[in-house]
Formats: sequence, structure tokens, C-alpha cells
Amino acid sequence: MSTHKPIRKAVFPVAGLGTRFLPATKAIPKELLPIVDRPLIQYAVDEAREAGIEQMIFVTGRGKTAIVEHFDVAYELETTMEERGKDLGVLDSSRFTPGDIITVRQQVPMGLGHAIWCARAIVGDEPFAILLPDEMMVAHKGGTGCMAQMVEAYNEVGGNLISVLEVPHENVASYGVIDPGESSGALTEVNGLVEKPPVAEAPSNKIISGRYILQPEVMRTLETQGKGAGGEIQLTDAMARMIGNQAFHSVTFEGRRFDCGSKTGFVEATLALALERDDMGAEIRSIAERLLAE
Ligand code: UTP
Repeated sequence: MSTHKPIRKAVFPVAGLGTRFLPATKAIPKELLPIVDRPLIQYAVDEAREAGIEQMIFVTGRGKTAIVEHFDVAYELETTMEERGKDLGVLDSSRFTPGDIITVRQQVPMGLGHAIWCARAIVGDEPFAILLPDEMMVAHKGGTGCMAQMVEAYNEVGGNLISVLEVPHENVASYGVIDPGESSGALTEVNGLVEKPPVAEAPSNKIISGRYILQPEVMRTLETQGKGAGGEIQLTDAMARMIGNQAFHSVTFEGRRFDCGSKTGFVEATLALALERDDMGAEIRSIAERLLAE
């Protein structure tokens, strides 16, 4: 039994503009774009639930209400499906205990750090998880998801944790990178964080990958956080200020990450997941082979 406060709440920042996906995201939130037949946000919420997290806090913005509706009861749809004898099981993962979906508003998208700070009153005085839905973390077959792996590590060491992945060293310049300390298994002490370092100066090839468990003090750090890269209030800057004052570890995720905020990552995720599906994998494979041969 862990002596650390349990992780009961997850924050999903979904107020970004999604400009890389325009015009698709002009009227539809990026987080509702589907990978095969589930929207991105559903994968992230399922991952949090698998890790034992009960309350989902969405930081939404203008034009994002459809995300909350996705987790609501759809009376007309369900009644009509029932009348037609259709299986309602496909909707199970979008059902929630009343009160467990909470939304807060980020009126102006001022950056990821600012979005997290908008959830401060709901998070209160307990450690919490953050999941960026456009980073899709896929478990290995039979393995647990990224957040479940992080909660397991948290139960061991407590404090703050970020998930990392190792990439070829020459690719580090587009990511947030950790300055690593001592390692033990999947856990590595974090001595510092650098956002988008030049390859020659990167302290490691471990990149931050969209999943965090943070102590509530981060909210106070964000409170006084000035604008950083891109004129936005950056979560990485706030975390960097906490290192040294609180325990900070990274967890190397055993699984695959797809950057679904980029078009190529999105298509790659779609293809990878479709190929693995029992109901369509073989068909997609033969379609892909035919297209490649043409
Ligand atoms: P991104 O950096 O992917 O930004 O944000 P974006 O606006 O969604 O997409 P592009 O770059 O314009 O295409 C990472 C996550 O943080 C959220 C986004 O919704 C996304 O889940 N976010 C970002 C906010 O909630 N608020 C912000 O001010 C910025």
C-alpha cells in the first residue's frame, strides 16, 4: 500500500486552437478527430480510467463544447438504437458517473501552462495527472497504458513525474528534453528540463511525452510564471522551477507514442491501429499493399 496521496483527478487541456489541422479543426475540436472509430479524447480518458483515475477535468475553450457532449447521454440516439435493436455497448466507454466530468474554461489560449492553471480550484490541494490528448500513447499488447505505468511509479517514489521516450539523438531539437540524473529501471531522476535544445547541447535523448503527475504546488508556480517560448505560459518552465525543491522523476514509457497533433503522426496512428484491429487489419493491409504497388 502506497503512502503517497492517491491520484484521483486528471486534467485534459483541450482549449488549443489546433491550427496545424486547419481547415478540419475550424468547427470541430482537434480532440474529436477520430483514430479509426474513437476520438482522440476518448483514448486519453480511457488511459486515465485504466490508471484508476475517477475525475476528468477538461480545460475547454471557445468551440469545444462538443467534447463535453461526447461524454453525455445521447437520448435520441440511444432510444432510436434501442428501438432498432442495435447494441448500445459501443457507447459504454463514453458513459460517466454524474459529477465525474468537470469542465473549466480557458477564455484565451495563452499556453499549456496557463490551461493547467485554469483548473487550480478543481484540482485543489492534491497531486493530479495531466494528459495531452493529441499525444496518443499506445500500450504494447497485453501491457498497461502510459498513465497506469506512471501511477505505479508514483506509488513507489511520489513527488512529480513526467513520461519520457527515447528518440534518435538527432531528432531532439523539436522536443522538451530532460537532463537526467541517476536511473533505476524505468525511473530516472530529472535534474533539469530544456525546451527544444540544439542537438549538440541536448543533455539527453529522452523527450517529454505528454503525460504528467504533478504536485499541487505547480499551480502556485504557474501563478507567477511569465510568458516563455512562443509568447505562451509554458508548463515546462514551471516544472523546471520546481526541480530541486521537490522530487522529480521521469518514467520511460514502455509502448508507442503517436504525435497526433501533426498530420503525419495522425495518419501513422490511424494506419497502425487499423492494421492491428481484428475486424479490419487484414483488409487494411491488402489495401495498403495495393496502394504502395500502384
Ligand atoms: P498544442 O501545442 O498541440 O497546440 O497544445 P494546439 O493549439 O492544440 O495545436 P496547434 O499547434 O495550433 O496545431 C498541446 C495541448 O495543450 C492544449 C491543446 O488543446 C493540446 O491538447 N492547449 C494548448 C490548451 O488547452 N490551451 C492553450 O493555450 C494551448
